[in-house]
Amino acid sequence: MSIPEIKINYDNKGTNLNDLYGLFFEDINHAADGGLYAEMIQNRSFEFNRIDNHTYHSLYAWENEDGTDLEERGIALRVLTDDPIHPNNVNYLKVNTSEKLVIRNRGFNQGLYLKKGEIYRISFFAKPDLLNQKIGLELQNASGEVLTHEEVKVTETNWHQYEVEVVAPKTITDGRLAVTFPAYTDIAIDMISVFPKDTFKGRKNGCRRDIAERLAAMKPKFLRFPGGCLVHDGSLNANDRDSMYRWKNTIGPIEHRPSKRNNWGYNQSLGLGYFEYFQLCEDLNTKPLPVLPAGWDPHHQRAVPIDELGPWIQDALDLIEFANGSADSTWGKIRAEMGHPEPFNLEYLGIGNEEVGKPFFDRYAYFHKAIREKYPEIKLINTAGPFAAGSEFERGWESAKEHGSDLVDEHYYQAPDWFLANHHRYDSYDPNGPKVFLGEYASQENKWWNALVEASFMIGLERNADKVDLACYAPMLCNVDYINWTPDLIWFNQEESYGSTNYDVQKLFMTRQGTQNVDWEAVDFPESECIADEGISGEFGIGGDHADIEVSNIKVYDKTTSETTEIPNASISDHDYLALGSVDNDQYTISFQFTKVGGRWDKGFHFIFGKEDDKNRYTWVLGGWQNQDCLVDSVRNGSPSVLTQSIWKVEKDRTYNCRLEVDGRKITTYIDDVEFNHIEDLPIVIKPIYTNVTFNEVTGEYDLKLVNVKDEDFIFKLDVSEIKQLSVIELSADPTVENTLDNPNQVETKEYQLDLANDQIKVPAHSVMFLQIKR
Ligand code: AHR
Repeated sequence: MSIPEIKINYDNKGTNLNDLYGLFFEDINHAADGGLYAEMIQNRSFEFNRIDNHTYHSLYAWENEDGTDLEERGIALRVLTDDPIHPNNVNYLKVNTSEKLVIRNRGFNQGLYLKKGEIYRISFFAKPDLLNQKIGLELQNASGEVLTHEEVKVTETNWHQYEVEVVAPKTITDGRLAVTFPAYTDIAIDMISVFPKDTFKGRKNGCRRDIAERLAAMKPKFLRFPGGCLVHDGSLNANDRDSMYRWKNTIGPIEHRPSKRNNWGYNQSLGLGYFEYFQLCEDLNTKPLPVLPAGWDPHHQRAVPIDELGPWIQDALDLIEFANGSADSTWGKIRAEMGHPEPFNLEYLGIGNEEVGKPFFDRYAYFHKAIREKYPEIKLINTAGPFAAGSEFERGWESAKEHGSDLVDEHYYQAPDWFLANHHRYDSYDPNGPKVFLGEYASQENKWWNALVEASFMIGLERNADKVDLACYAPMLCNVDYINWTPDLIWFNQEESYGSTNYDVQKLFMTRQGTQNVDWEAVDFPESECIADEGISGEFGIGGDHADIEVSNIKVYDKTTSETTEIPNASISDHDYLALGSVDNDQYTISFQFTKVGGRWDKGFHFIFGKEDDKNRYTWVLGGWQNQDCLVDSVRNGSPSVLTQSIWKVEKDRTYNCRLEVDGRKITTYIDDVEFNHIEDLPIVIKPIYTNVTFNEVTGEYDLKLVNVKDEDFIFKLDVSEIKQLSVIELSADPTVENTLDNPNQVETKEYQLDLANDQIKVPAHSVMFLQIKR
């Protein structure tokens, strides 16, 4: 058998890669407070509230000297609201004590991380009843050992900030800030803060250096912000505790910002707000890509009436002015007053996050028109829902085409097999329509296998750079002690951080993105291997989803024999599963009627089919998440993928006629004779090697990018006659490993030069290999 060859047509350059690879920041998993935002005090302004989380209260994370929970103590210690620092920052602590009183803050995770020799800024705002009271500030460990001690004399009558700098004499991870009020203190205190002086780029109110440096090391082309569901989950009134993420709440002096519920079940101080975000983009040398809500919360079905959309659209226009306006424009002036007279050069703006439902798209039109008219240079991003296919996905694309959106934000979190099967997803997209912004994607875990498969998929993104403009993995950050969502790109605790194996891949692709694609040919390549193309057959049954369901008139029609089998009526509740029968071919129709008769939750049920075992099956979900979905998912080797989704709601006591048609790997569903889902679960195909070639016009280098997901080496020939130097970066690992805090470097990274006397090159099994070519 001849050895496969890769022929690079160096002078045949193709599509520009522009800003292809970037990052997605969402304040999920404590990504901001207790994460990238370097503030070490949790609940610094006594604003925590039950709306944020049912365990929260205004003294949350504050404790007594012995570590027990702090509570209000009559007149001695109260949380008050009259005459605060600013009406947005309502709560403060009032201490009026005849005895010495000590309160401590335990920070995030196990406590404050204090590093020997590092400088920490401890600050607070105070308004005393008596002048010249002395407040003690101590950094301690959890058991009370004192590391630093300072006293601050409160000298101003009105709210005023006091700050000291201390040097940690040793390294600890269970630090506490103890604030001491001597006997006969009478004082109001707020915004008690500890920041490391050594933040990223030394910014006050800045970012944790280790985490930000991991971002910087990736050289991202853009940074999406602030979410995610965080964008649109919330009430419509910007002053509500649980309002949607409204950017104007997040700027100005931090002591003037409101504290808000974060929809991921915690509090957001908004200390890392829009100004800090734009500044971080500048510090990372990356382009901002903010996403704004459009007055529609799909989670709670809240919509701003169309004739009241004006202020929401004005918010979008004002954000552009805040970012790009001159320092004497209304919002540019505020930016200048915050310390940045120069514009932030905003190019991209997203309206909405993975929106579902007509109300969003009705509203999008108004945003689009107003922004286009005033700022035609801004690239506008529409959205295509949370799934890779289906009615909401199509609705997003149709809206984008109708209005001429520049990009459409696609999101999908799928099994590794789905990514393999869908390698050619973008080959058939229209290069002349709106471009793809793949704003959230990830396979289901942080193992090397997932990273490897994502790498193979990224080769497909690059190949299709005439249709795919932007792509970012999601989510980006996760505090190991506050997990909302996995997998994630970068993990951390209060002390250290590490990149997942997926980070290793993303970083390689980002840092070696290049500026243009280059033509290449595969000669004598082996055939691709198909690991699953069999039709859908097997057991079928019903699964409970917290509702009581009665199923009747169940019939299975076998298209190959034209026979119909009748199945006895059944019912289901809670999370039970009831097998109803089995089909041994892939050409059949199952019809049934169902009625929801009760149950604890506003949901429907699952019709399971094509079931081989618990880890390999298909599900038709009827009335899924928040009773909004009618979707079909597949689970392969325990890893789920939503194949297609439509919106639909089950009504109690109503009987529905349902039909599921299977034809090979094609699935079609109907409710009351209306088609709801139609999808082909594509065969899972593995290529002998995934390849792309890019050129970097800045360095003059070419990159031959190779991803080998197979468990055997791939050996190929490359004509080296025109090549001066061939440097290799190779990432490889066992597919099952993942990085952890204790073992953060499970992926072996090799960098070496290839001997140009040898024209045969080996891409090891389970590796990602970039060959940097100097001609
Ligand atoms: O990335 C986590 C979440 O996934 C995002 O908030 C949302 O957009 C998506 O559903």
